Amino acid sequence: MSNFKNVTVIDHPLISRDMSIVRDKNTGTIGFRMAMSRIATILAYHCLKELPLKETTIETPIQQTTGYELDTEVIVVPILRAGLSLVDAIINYIPDAKVGHLGIYRDENTHEPVDYYSNLPSGVDRSLILVVDPMLATGGSADDAIGFLKKKGAKQLRFISLISAPEGLEKVTTNHPDVPVITASIDEKLNDDAFIVPGLGDAGDRYFSTE
Ligand code: PRP
Repeated sequence: MSNFKNVTVIDHPLISRDMSIVRDKNTGTIGFRMAMSRIATILAYHCLKELPLKETTIETPIQQTTGYELDTEVIVVPILRAGLSLVDAIINYIPDAKVGHLGIYRDENTHEPVDYYSNLPSGVDRSLILVVDPMLATGGSADDAIGFLKKKGAKQLRFISLISAPEGLEKVTTNHPDVPVITASIDEKLNDDAFIVPGLGDAGDRYFSTE
């Protein structure tokens, strides 16, 4: 856990190595994408650790035995654009997960979230919703996305981010104490432009090579 209630920082040597790669300004697109993907796999694994199971009966080549199936539907909701970088890691574990999209960008001057797109699958009210975005800075986008999903009936939500600022965690955990946050790092602070320090720059631009 962390000093924030309901926030888990995943501590793993591969994450420490890969976070250094994504933070390094000299890492190019290929290295950035590959390291993001490896970190996302570990975060997804931890986030899915407490998935409910139901027992089934299966036949091995030898005899009948007890098997297990996931006992919940899962919807992954990336916050566009950068959240798209975390979707595949979850789908690799849960190939039938539905994907909903929320388009939110942060206004460069006010730093407030601006909604521009939403497309959600059915079943929001009965599914486990994993909201994914590599950056939690002011927390405005995450707060906006979680609030929107709750209005649509979501009851079980988790938020996955790579890098979180204390300011953003304060906002999300205060407004949504029921939503566990899984992150790879709690950084130092936000700078005057509301960028995470030390951070990794703009995850969306680096991942999509639009710098
Ligand atoms: C970035 C990031 C988050 C948001 C975090 O998106 O991917 O969505 O800002 O900031 P906040 O916590 O202060 O809201 P950006 O606006 O750069 O859009 P992009 O993903 O399309 O690049």
